[in-house]
Amino acid sequence: MSTRGKPRVLLMHPILDPGYSILSEAAEVAGYPADRPLDEASIREAAEGCVGIVSQLIDPIRETVLSTPGLKIVSNVAVGFDNIDVPAATAHQVMVTNTPGVLDDTTADFAFTLLMTTARRVVEADHFTRQGRFRGWAIDMMLGTDIFGATLGIIGIGRIGRGVAHRAKGFNMRVLYYDPHPLPPDAEQQLGAARVDLNRLLAESDFVSVHVPLTPETQHMLSTPQFERMKRSAIVINTSRGPVVDEAALVEALTAKKIAGAGLDVYEREPAVHPGLLPMTNVVLAPHIASATVRTRSEMSAMAARNMATAVRGGRPPNLLNPEVKR
Ligand code: DGY
Repeated sequence: MSTRGKPRVLLMHPILDPGYSILSEAAEVAGYPADRPLDEASIREAAEGCVGIVSQLIDPIRETVLSTPGLKIVSNVAVGFDNIDVPAATAHQVMVTNTPGVLDDTTADFAFTLLMTTARRVVEADHFTRQGRFRGWAIDMMLGTDIFGATLGIIGIGRIGRGVAHRAKGFNMRVLYYDPHPLPPDAEQQLGAARVDLNRLLAESDFVSVHVPLTPETQHMLSTPQFERMKRSAIVINTSRGPVVDEAALVEALTAKKIAGAGLDVYEREPAVHPGLLPMTNVVLAPHIASATVRTRSEMSAMAARNMATAVRGGRPPNLLNPEVKR
């Protein structure tokens, strides 16, 4: 509790409007000092005396932080929550919330953007043109890969995966998906998506787009054996979490021309990018911005703030990831 009466909450990084107003109405907001490292010991020190932490995906929230006395809730401003040890939070009776739903279309848009940009060599073409190398039309200049009518393999058919399938319909794509949980038959029919096993998806897809959360089961889900099953012309798209793709194996597969290209928004050791990817013109690299639109990031901020505000006022926040926590 703060001396001013409102419960104290640690805001790890600035959030967008109206998130901050929602938060500051319910709590006394303590900002995490920008010059402090983002390690668990420093976060715990800053969290002393706080009932809540508004975290982002770059903040490690594990045992050391979660055992802070008096901590009741961690509200993550992201749908992914692999930066938080949820079982440890439950063991310490700390609620954990995330921001599902609001970023699905924005992220699906960006997965499709990466797919198109990589297939049609847009970044390479832009550099080429700016460098003054366009000296006239040529029949063999910047030849790319067709998207219309191609086969798209979606790994993980959650909300974002379904959004990508929906967009693929407009491009008359054949959509395959792999997911342990099948879609209901009417949803499959509506999306025109067929469930197949992973090996078949890898072998038949022109584009493979990954939409799974990072868990011990999905880590390095795409590695050397999977790249070897893909078409030599295949393009891999990753807007989920970096460690789902074995980055060293990806570099090796691209170098050996086992696959044709990749469009990446996420990396194994963010913000580091495997140095092997940097010179590759058949790879498009983005800095984890798939959900980065003004509307979506504002809604994520507001949702995380509402989750926190509800909890500090003594309620059960929406989007609670560990409902087994007793209040
Ligand atoms: C998330 O929410 O998990 C994204 O990676 C960032 O928007």
